[in-house]
Amino acid sequence: MQIPLVDLKAQYIPLREEIMRGMAAVLDSMHLTTGPNLADFEENFAAFCGAAYCVGVANGTDALQLALRACDVGLDPADEVITVSHSFIATTEGIWQAGARPVFVDIDPRTYTMDVSQVEAKITAHTRAILPVHIHGQMADMVSLREIADRYNLYLIEDAAQAHGASLNGKPAGSWGDLACFSFYPGKNLGAYGEAGAITTDNQALAERLRVLRNHGSETKYKHIELGFNSRLDELQAVVLRAKLPYINRWNEGRRKIARQYDRLLTGSGLVTPFVAPGSVSAYHHYAVTSGNRDALLDWLQANGIGAGIHYPLPIHLQPAGMRYGYAPGSLPVTEKYTASTLSLPIYAEMTDEQVNYIVAKVFEFKELKEKPRIKDSLVTMK
Ligand SMILES: Cc1ncc(COP(=O)(O)O)c(C=O)c1O
Repeated sequence: MQIPLVDLKAQYIPLREEIMRGMAAVLDSMHLTTGPNLADFEENFAAFCGAAYCVGVANGTDALQLALRACDVGLDPADEVITVSHSFIATTEGIWQAGARPVFVDIDPRTYTMDVSQVEAKITAHTRAILPVHIHGQMADMVSLREIADRYNLYLIEDAAQAHGASLNGKPAGSWGDLACFSFYPGKNLGAYGEAGAITTDNQALAERLRVLRNHGSETKYKHIELGFNSRLDELQAVVLRAKLPYINRWNEGRRKIARQYDRLLTGSGLVTPFVAPGSVSAYHHYAVTSGNRDALLDWLQANGIGAGIHYPLPIHLQPAGMRYGYAPGSLPVTEKYTASTLSLPIYAEMTDEQVNYIVAKVFEFKELKEKPRIKDSLVTMK
């Protein structure tokens, strides 16, 4: 059996007609960018996130960069942004592109999100913002982070690229920070058919500045009030996002159902299944387990047609590109330990019971294979 990590085709087929119709209408109108599809999507995505405004941009990395720039973070190259190293590289790239410096804190050993107990010790006179990542679809401890950000007068910016539809205490991702950044990369819970991203906020002034920044600093055509960027979300992508948005809750519920099945069926498998903090509802962008024998398990699953993956195999501070910030191996021990043991199993709403059962059976087969020689070894030592 072949099971991909995500199955974009399975999601596309029932929406094909609607998306094709929307795309044909865009092409017939030749209104290709910042048009009515984007305006409609922005309004509805803001509502979905419980935010007053949504500004569509070209991708999630731009969303991070522009969010920081809208707050003037990075104007001074000494500006620091407190973030995590356990993320996709884009989190750090957004900070670097804005001109600021990332300051990494370790992750919580249970949720794998920013360890809030370590944040205050990292705050300096240069700190301008805190940028947690809602990794694997689970929100960071935004209650504590909001309190710290307010106390030190810092911006709080969510990297919500993996958390469309996640919530904490009933309040959605995208409504906790001063700004929140989303990616609509195709494999995301809400994915375009190309590149797209967005920023949500309740702050009208920041939303207005973001609209200027994404469009060459332009307030009205050919009037540029500042130097900006070409980071618009085009109409063809907006058609796709508009068509998909009404289904996101259903798809996330489907992911949660698969996660509950895995949680139950993997008991006794030797894997540590995801911990979801009280009050938190995960969007399960990934179903990330940990294993003491991760690399061999990954090879085994892949050899059996299962598209398991690793998110992420090397933390940002130990990447060749991340070394510039001077964090030695061992400096973020929880992050580093997690990176060496994490493995993501396939998860998407359209997965069947048969697929879940097959994956679980292969995990248990692996466990048996690994245990057999150990039984032999222990008999030898007993003699
Ligand atoms: C946590 C995180 N932040 C930022 C991004 C960047 O988004 P994009 O690929 O749309 O630039 C991604 C996804 O790629 C991500 O997973």
